[in-house]
Amino acid sequence: MSGPNTDYDPVEVTPLKAEQVDEMREAALAAIAAAADLDALKQVRIDHTGDRSPLALANREIGALPPQARKDAGQRIGQTRGAVNQALAARQVVLEAEHEERMLVEETVDVSLPTTRARRGGRHPLTLQSELIADLFVAMGYEVAEGPVVEAEWLNFDALNLGPDHPARSMQDTFWTEPAENHVVLRTQTSPVQARTMLTRKPPIYVVCPGRVFRTDEYDATHSPMFHQVEGLVVDEGITMAHLKGTLDHFASQLFGDGITTRFRPSYFPFTEPSAEVDVLCFVCRNVDPASCRTCRGEGWIEWGGCGVVNPRVLTACGVDPSVYSGFAFGMGIDRSFMFRHNLEDLRPLFEGDVRFSSSFGSEI
Ligand code: DAH
Repeated sequence: MSGPNTDYDPVEVTPLKAEQVDEMREAALAAIAAAADLDALKQVRIDHTGDRSPLALANREIGALPPQARKDAGQRIGQTRGAVNQALAARQVVLEAEHEERMLVEETVDVSLPTTRARRGGRHPLTLQSELIADLFVAMGYEVAEGPVVEAEWLNFDALNLGPDHPARSMQDTFWTEPAENHVVLRTQTSPVQARTMLTRKPPIYVVCPGRVFRTDEYDATHSPMFHQVEGLVVDEGITMAHLKGTLDHFASQLFGDGITTRFRPSYFPFTEPSAEVDVLCFVCRNVDPASCRTCRGEGWIEWGGCGVVNPRVLTACGVDPSVYSGFAFGMGIDRSFMFRHNLEDLRPLFEGDVRFSSSFGSEI
């Protein structure tokens, strides 16, 4: 240690004596070896090599010595400082490596640990498909119309040219509500929304209506007492079957892919005349080599829905003048469309609420 130089000797200054310097070296090396971490080592560096360290203070005394003694002492101090700095650097490397190792262990994230994050649920694939369909009609200038699922018998049947004794009523097995004299049903089709729309607004009418419908069907792989349809209705001046065909071709190509068209087969629906069944070109084999196609089962075409030119009797029942206006209508099964779009053999998973099914269609939010 430096201090008042009471025993000043021009040849030997106490702090520069060999034993003193050796002691400083030993003390420094011992402290370096004992430094357990980088913070401790930092303190050791300050204590043993800093401006106020014994070595630095001793170094300052060198100038007071005569030349030869100055050289010896200079060498001694220089070597000692070199050795201490080397030891510091070596310890620094060791402690840094230890520190890094510890960080790796302490801050490891075990990606295999079970998560506690709760699922937020999923939007139902049928909801997504209904919205997709509605969107592509909205893009053509249509509006989305809605109606109740508990519906007046008159709107579900009579207004649509299905009178009480009409044989086609039995095509749709109906859930009746009680008491029967109220004549209220669970709607068997989305077609009553046609009647509701015409009764509440004036042409031109361009509406699309996706929604739930109900029939007393057994629940199996291809039937469900509740399923989904999308209804379309156009009423305007000069509307023809050609407009219907063009609209459905566009609808098919948007839903199933470019170049997927439709074909009409003559059919009967009370609310349209003429009426047609609509088939969509098989979007897998494109009717090129249908024999081995599993999607259309060798047909080249897939049944998609019904359509036609709105029967003038329906226009009249709903307050629209058939001598001025004409229209077209169509109705498709959304679940059916979804099934063949995704090659689904069994529709039941669509109604059983397992989020793993929904999320497999990329519908999780
Ligand atoms: N509502 C019919 C059904 O459930 C489908 C349908 C056929 C709707 C022809 C229409 C149509 O609008 O024009 O079987």
